[in-house]
Amino acid sequence: MKLVFATHNIHKLREVQQLLPDSIELLSLNDINCFDEIPETGSTLEENAKIKADFVTQTYGLNCFSDDTGLLIDVLDGRPGVFSARYAGEGKNAQDNMTKVLNELENQTDRNAHFKTVIHLNWNGEPYVFEGIVEGEITHNQFGKGGFGYDPIFKPLGYDRTFGELSSETKNAISHRGRAVAKLVAFLGPTDHI
Ligand code: IMP
Repeated sequence: MKLVFATHNIHKLREVQQLLPDSIELLSLNDINCFDEIPETGSTLEENAKIKADFVTQTYGLNCFSDDTGLLIDVLDGRPGVFSARYAGEGKNAQDNMTKVLNELENQTDRNAHFKTVIHLNWNGEPYVFEGIVEGEITHNQFGKGGFGYDPIFKPLGYDRTFGELSSETKNAISHRGRAVAKLVAFLGPTDHI
């Protein structure tokens, strides 16, 4: 079965494809010839996930899911949160975002944070929402080059290495996106949905 994942991000597509059974083949936005940057104008992760999935379903008439993820840091009142991708400003990259976070937490001892992923699935005319969270803390420096985004500065609870150092298999097993996708897979698993 083919299912659209409303993303242009090849890292995310690969990561999620690894978590799905072989019977589900993910199509990216590029695969359906959608080259639009869908504006993420929502003020919450839930709203942004819905906006992206609805755009594809309404424009192309396809079943589709989208995800929206944020890093929520306790002492920053949940920032960068919905602004995680562009926290250091438009045109800045992941390194700039990590540098900004490390600077903001320079004198902080409370470094608790969590990643949260919200998946919005439009399935045969009905919306479904799945959520995944991983708790952890922000390190004082960057460690590892794996993953993407804030991975080198996020140490999941119970581990002594960052997501940037852990293997993709380990990260997928415990991550925010892994947990949300597991709920999506559990939903898609029974054949009576397909
Ligand atoms: P998105 O909603 O998945 O595009 O995520 C928004 C932003 O959150 C990304 O641009 C990254 O900065 C950050 N992010 C999302 N997922 C992860 C992850 O698994 N590790 C590290 N950073 C992430």
